[in-house]
Amino acid sequence: MATPPTPPEFNLDNIQGDILSGLPKKTETYIVFSITNATKFRKDLHNLIPLIKTVSGVLKDRQAIDDHKKKKLPGLVPMTGVNISFSHLGFTTLGIDDTTLRPVNPKTGAVNPFELGQKVDAVTNLGDTQKLNGDPDWDEAFLQGNIHGLIIISGDSHLSVNAVRLKIEAIFGVRTPTASLKEVISIVGDVRPGAEAGHEHFGFLDGISNPVVTGFDTVINPGPKPVNPGVIVTGHNGDTTTRADWATDGSFLAFRYLFQEVPEFNVFLSKNPIPKDGNGVALTPADGSELLGARMVGRWKSGAPIDVSPFKDDPALAADATRNNDFFFAGEINSQLKCPFAAHVRKTNPRDDLEVPPTGITPIPVEGNRIMRRGVQFGPELTPQEKATGVTAHGRGLLFACYQTNLFNGFQFLQQTWANNADFQPFETQPEKPGLDPLIGQGVRSMSGLDPLNEQKLLSMPQFIIPRGGEYFFAPSINGLKTTIATAT
Ligand code: HEM
Repeated sequence: MATPPTPPEFNLDNIQGDILSGLPKKTETYIVFSITNATKFRKDLHNLIPLIKTVSGVLKDRQAIDDHKKKKLPGLVPMTGVNISFSHLGFTTLGIDDTTLRPVNPKTGAVNPFELGQKVDAVTNLGDTQKLNGDPDWDEAFLQGNIHGLIIISGDSHLSVNAVRLKIEAIFGVRTPTASLKEVISIVGDVRPGAEAGHEHFGFLDGISNPVVTGFDTVINPGPKPVNPGVIVTGHNGDTTTRADWATDGSFLAFRYLFQEVPEFNVFLSKNPIPKDGNGVALTPADGSELLGARMVGRWKSGAPIDVSPFKDDPALAADATRNNDFFFAGEINSQLKCPFAAHVRKTNPRDDLEVPPTGITPIPVEGNRIMRRGVQFGPELTPQEKATGVTAHGRGLLFACYQTNLFNGFQFLQQTWANNADFQPFETQPEKPGLDPLIGQGVRSMSGLDPLNEQKLLSMPQFIIPRGGEYFFAPSINGLKTTIATAT
């Protein structure tokens, strides 16, 4: 008898596209919304479901993009994608029991970040600066206490995204007397132009290291071990919570509205060039500043990891997917020579620092702390005036979005326990503290290890990334939307 085929891990028609495959985009509009008429919203939602792009839809779109490129056709393939997610407040407003989405922390009994809401989490756990009244110092739109959901519309151009936006507004009767939804804020994000495409606003290539998901990814390049499917998608092996049926095949979306002070970041780099590389070779001020930036991030602007190419950029390494994530800080528990302990990528994915500790110490797996990062840049390129003055005059940054099934272990943990913690990584025994993550760390900001020949030297720095809003959402499955969240018209 033939062995029956292994059932596929995922029903790709049931999972929203951004979670596993990332909506293809040149531009993306984030519509943060409030529900103004719950009964009508649930009926209207029914009409939105056909517009939602699932993972299989994204895979088809990616195939179309590949074919287009192979044929060397001009322009971009016209395409759009819609995803929707809800906050705890949103589910409450709709009268939907979301108990299985918000278990308390089994170790500490802490309230789930999804239930807490990010506005409270921001000042309780994430370290965001507070206003006098105890609110985080955020954009007013995120402080009203009326955020119920998020609609993401991605596409090849503003024209195509705006056309879909009009359709969605019509479905919910936005700006009519029978509206069931009100926009709290909508933010347009754009991939940066030309050679900067794929690079965040400080200039570093982003989106290189995301977890490989067992049961989904077919190409497995050398790098961190694949994660169990349930680390990213609810209801699968690796999800630590038993979910209601409707709550499987979804994922939690941690959204952060992060402003980047790019001119100030550049001034900091130019004022603090590293004098010599780790081999004692003197650097020009420009090369010293470039190295400083690379050591803060853990990668060169090209994307090449400094753990592999510590003192010189290597664009060929950056472009090679079989090598650009193949590093582990192996055997470097007490060394910052190649990569500072607090470098952004070492803080947010410590790899062997925790998984292969010194003999006698129990390894700490990081699988449960992996997150699937999406998101997009917003705001204009630097103006000549900003370059000349070194002072930000126009808001720009990252619509940071990441998916995971456990917010305690995912986004919240990365920010609170790793990025904001000057003592992390735990097994090094050097006299110097690692310091805070120089990009996202909040608190008294300084780090060691920037000068490879003087690892103990602490360098203080201002905050270059300012959180101005955010929320935790849950992106349900198509089945969950159809059976539980929407009602038939
Ligand atoms: C404006 C804000 C941010 C900027 C400019 C930024 C920039 C970057 C860059 C340039 C990389 C390296 C490219 C890559 O490995 O894909 C990276 C990696 C990463 N970032 Fe961020 N990031 C930001 C916010 C955050 C936040 C808020 C978190 C989570 C709390 C985070 C978590 C990560 C993780 C997990 C990685 C991959 C690490 C690895 O697997 O090696 N980032 N980021």
